[in-house]
Amino acid sequence: MKVLMVASECTPFIKTGGLADVVGALPAALSGQGIECRILLPAYPSLQPLLSDGNQVAQFDDLPGGYGQLVLVSSQGLDLLLLDAPQLFDRPGLPYTDPNGADWPDNHLRFGALAQAAARVGLDGVEGWIPDIVHAHDWQASLTPVYLKQSGQAVPKSVLTIHNIAFQGRFGPHVLSELGLRGDWFHPEALEFHGDLGFLKSGLMFADRISTVSPTYAREILTPHYGMGLEGVLKSRESILSGILNGIDTGTWDPSSDPALNRGYNARSLGRKADNRAGIAERTGLDPEANGPLFCVISRLTEQKGLDALADAVPHIVNRGGQLAVLGSGQAGLEQAFVDASQRFAGAVGAVIGYDEAFAHLLQGGSDAILIPSRFEPCGLTQLYGLRYGTLPVVARTGGLADTVIDANVAALNEECATGFVFDDVSSSGIEAVLDRVFDRFADKKRWQMMQRAAMRQHVGWDQSALEYAQMYQGLSE
Ligand code: ADP
Ligand code: GLC
Repeated sequence: MKVLMVASECTPFIKTGGLADVVGALPAALSGQGIECRILLPAYPSLQPLLSDGNQVAQFDDLPGGYGQLVLVSSQGLDLLLLDAPQLFDRPGLPYTDPNGADWPDNHLRFGALAQAAARVGLDGVEGWIPDIVHAHDWQASLTPVYLKQSGQAVPKSVLTIHNIAFQGRFGPHVLSELGLRGDWFHPEALEFHGDLGFLKSGLMFADRISTVSPTYAREILTPHYGMGLEGVLKSRESILSGILNGIDTGTWDPSSDPALNRGYNARSLGRKADNRAGIAERTGLDPEANGPLFCVISRLTEQKGLDALADAVPHIVNRGGQLAVLGSGQAGLEQAFVDASQRFAGAVGAVIGYDEAFAHLLQGGSDAILIPSRFEPCGLTQLYGLRYGTLPVVARTGGLADTVIDANVAALNEECATGFVFDDVSSSGIEAVLDRVFDRFADKKRWQMMQRAAMRQHVGWDQSALEYAQMYQGLSE
């Protein structure tokens, strides 16, 4: 079976969050199920150097936004179809925003072009390679199922995966004609979302299957609190909606062979984490002699992640003798809050503002616990990395966090299966309460290590989820 993945990010080429990790890791897992994937990605500046190694396999004169060619190239074990349309994608800044952080004004054309190129590959193939399934990810790829249905052809079938419903791709109705979409579909049962064109909404209406990245989030988005206005649309499509948990790339994230660590370790040599903690202290100015628990945060700094509440709970960590190392970037106010904390509590709090893949690995390798107090979390990957590194996740009970971390309650501790700490109240007092539980557990070294070992035993790879995707594809192509 052949699957065309369509996405706006893919590790290790271009990443702003977990979407990239999933798109980059899933194809290898699916190949174990006999599925051959190609990934259609925009040729952003970071991908431009690959173009000269590849072959042009298609060109289009009439994409939204004009001309584009497709270049097929293999890199890092992945087969990529790069949409080379320099007028749309070869620009500085991040994939969705300009260097000042504002959305690119032509994002509808940029991602309309991506979706239309995907539909053309789906319908006509490239050089005889014709996908059975086109699998689109998030709003940026969400017009793909629409263009496929607009063609009137029954195949290929489409899957749309929601990684985060907070990002919906909403544009004024005037863009409809620029995108070559059917005007008579501009109504609430098809493309219209409250007077606008909704990319994600449209994809949800036309995809043959919808998935999201954890079973709990699949239920949550049917409710007004989590559905962010799309709960009604999803309710109407509930029979084709499912939740498939993300896995992680257990090769890239392996504490015994991770090149970013000062020292590798496994479940029998947890003491070696100390060398990694020393590396964190060196980088962030934390007191290297401290022996309370070291907490880390590796995150986009946004409301979603509950880090405003955590910022208020920082004094509690320090008062109880803990340390905190933060790596993140995002909202200016949150960046400032953690920089301020690192100055106020010098030696106990360290903050690195920015994006640093290697330091993210070192933090997992040297911290005792990772804090993820999200208000919503479709899946979350950093708790999975934490489990794999024996860095116990302290997580809010929501979405994929609730599905992957086993709380250290009495029963789970007695059964030796607790892998972290789960709490309900995302507020500074809720966080302080769960931190108290963490400090109490940390004082009992034997039990802490027992939890670390249970965490490291947990299956966090892609095997089971790849099987579920394969079954979904199979069901569609029968
Ligand atoms: P989301 O996709 O909502 O941001 P996830 O937990 O699914 O959340 O994925 C976040 C990914 O981005 C993880 O791989 C995490 O390690 C990485 N990450 C987040 N912030 C940073 C940062 N500042 N530096 C390096 N990696 C980061
Ligand atoms: C989104 C979500 C995150 C999820 C990731 C990958 O960015 O916020 O929870 O893990 O996508 O699916």
